[in-house]
Amino acid sequence: MPTALVTGASRGLGAVFAERLARDGFDLVLVARDRIGLEHTAAAVRGNGVTAEVLVADLADPTARATVEHRLADASRPVDVLVNNAGVENGNAFIQADLRDLQKQIDTNITAVMSLTHAALRGMIARANGSVINVASFAGYLSSPGNTYASTKAWVLAFTDTMAASLPGTGVSMIALCPGRMRTGKHDAPKTPSPLWLKPAAVVDQCLRDLARGRSLCTPGVVYRTVVGALEMPRRTLRGLARLAGRGRAQRRGRAGRTHARSAADRIAA
Ligand SMILES: NC(=O)c1ccc[n+]([C@@H]2O[C@H](COP(=O)([O-])OP(=O)(O)OC[C@H]3O[C@@H](n4cnc5c(N)ncnc54)[C@H](OP(=O)(O)O)[C@@H]3O)[C@@H](O)[C@H]2O)c1
Repeated sequence: MPTALVTGASRGLGAVFAERLARDGFDLVLVARDRIGLEHTAAAVRGNGVTAEVLVADLADPTARATVEHRLADASRPVDVLVNNAGVENGNAFIQADLRDLQKQIDTNITAVMSLTHAALRGMIARANGSVINVASFAGYLSSPGNTYASTKAWVLAFTDTMAASLPGTGVSMIALCPGRMRTGKHDAPKTPSPLWLKPAAVVDQCLRDLARGRSLCTPGVVYRTVVGALEMPRRTLRGLARLAGRGRAQRRGRAGRTHARSAADRIAA
């Protein structure tokens, strides 16, 4: 049985990820602070005949986070899929917000994503097998005045982009999930259907489909996909040009290397 570790699995999108992965046959490690919520998710996923381990940890706390890092780095119990889903949103304007709360937001939304990915990746690369899903947000593309949540999600997008670029050929993949507003119960969603309000189950389905297709960015929902597609266009072009330039440099280095090798051989022959 493959194993997936899902952070923020006590409710919301994380619980939906856990349920879907259990249906796909993954044993689960469920991480969050609320033990009751985690036990609830664990009971639901065990109905699929998989195991569910509950790991209570505050990811904003370095000592508690270390227990999750150790679980991810444990080669005797490999984790095949890491879902960095836990996140907090501090909606206060920057100068009114408590600095400790802002730091917790950074520790949960950024530091935990970086450190758990670091803990998981070495083993995944050694086994040439694994995937990391980083839950970002459409907010990462917006500047909402004074709100620092968006900037933490912009980091998740940039981090995944750079990491994913270094993974081809390793057997490991990484994707940033970039949803707009979701009906996870966190926000007051309108009762009537709206293309701007996404269903968590559909978001998870789309993310796993895009991961299987080898994509490094998933933007569920037609409206969000269109906007992000337009915003990403210049970056995609730039990346393509950089790849071409890199290939040209490598070819020139290869030619120079062959010329150098030939002249060295000529000298030896002489
Ligand atoms: N809902 C949306 O509209 C929306 C849109 C775009 C992106 N997102 C992102 O999607 C992800 C899930 O959102 P959601 O709507 O499901 O949110 P949610 O219902 O508030 O759930 C957040 C999850 O994160 C966990 N969590 C928060 N702080 C934690 C900490 N310090 N340590 C460990 N676990 C922690 C919570 O568990 P405990 O409280 O038990 O610790 C909970 O399980 C987040 O990253 C969010 O930023 C959400």
